[in-house]
Amino acid sequence: MWHQAQASLFREFAVLARPFLKWAGGKGQLLPELTRRLPRQFRRYHEPFVGGGALFFHLANNGNLREGAVLSDSNAELILCYQVVRDDVTALIAALQEHTPHFKDPDYFREIRSWDRRSDFAQRDPVAKAARTIFLNRTCYNGLYRVNKKGQFNTPFGYYKNPLICDPANLRAVSAALQQTEIRQSDFAEVLERARPGDLVYFDPPYDPVSATASFTHYTDQHFSVDEQRRLVEVFNQLVERGSYVMLSNSHTQFTRELYHAMPLADIVHASRKINCNGKKRGSVEELIVCSYQSYQSGTNGVKP
Ligand SMILES: C[S@@+](CC[C@H](N)C(=O)[O-])C[C@H]1O[C@@H](n2cnc3c(N)ncnc32)[C@H](O)[C@@H]1O
Repeated sequence: MWHQAQASLFREFAVLARPFLKWAGGKGQLLPELTRRLPRQFRRYHEPFVGGGALFFHLANNGNLREGAVLSDSNAELILCYQVVRDDVTALIAALQEHTPHFKDPDYFREIRSWDRRSDFAQRDPVAKAARTIFLNRTCYNGLYRVNKKGQFNTPFGYYKNPLICDPANLRAVSAALQQTEIRQSDFAEVLERARPGDLVYFDPPYDPVSATASFTHYTDQHFSVDEQRRLVEVFNQLVERGSYVMLSNSHTQFTRELYHAMPLADIVHASRKINCNGKKRGSVEELIVCSYQSYQSGTNGVKP
């Protein structure tokens, strides 16, 4: 009884972990649709295109990750941020606090951005590199992670009036949420080496572009082509054959409809999204959520939609 009261008090006053990076394709908005489709029970949770990790944080906040989680992404700088937040959050907060006073200075921004053009970049301290990524994410135009063909960050300065560069309470909450979590830089197909029967895999790949100008597929120096989308369907099917639960979101286009036409549980949902690459225009777009399993139930599994 006392423990229950203490646990609910803790939930009431604890800072809930939220995505600590702005990330194109962030799933904050689609969360009610995703949580409604979670399987009733699952073992380990895998998110192979983690990005900002909105669904992961939702599950962590609700105590749904009792058997742990594996987060991965092909973006090395992003993954380093997660690892540093998990393992060295105090030093990261101190490094971000050093950047904070310079948020209005485009020259300072360009200087920090240029680190990856120098030969010693790989040898730099992981905390300094993670602080750089978070600082750039908060001060660059639209928070867009964009790199050139050489893999060098090239989003311009954002001219924000008051960007939140360091949020110590959230970073500490995120660090706590990540403690039992494996974090890896890897291609999505490597989930096949890790997922076991009863595990849940959530795929949120770079979306198939709804129009030529709506493409946000430059997250890393690799494009996510139609062949990649096809390779993902194969991985999806192999996981299902092995007994994992698989959920996937993508844009709803003729191509994705064809890719997933054989799946009995593919629902079209509506979301308000940035619909062009300068991020100013928003509109209602159709998205596709595909599940490999039947037995999901709204609001169960302790998951609050
Ligand atoms: C749509 S975003 C994920 C958004 C995330 N669910 C959120 O809530 O913010 C897609 C992610 O896929 C990653 N990515 C692109 N190609 C990949 C690949 N081949 N393997 C793993 N991750 C990849 C990108 O770096 C990007 O972080």
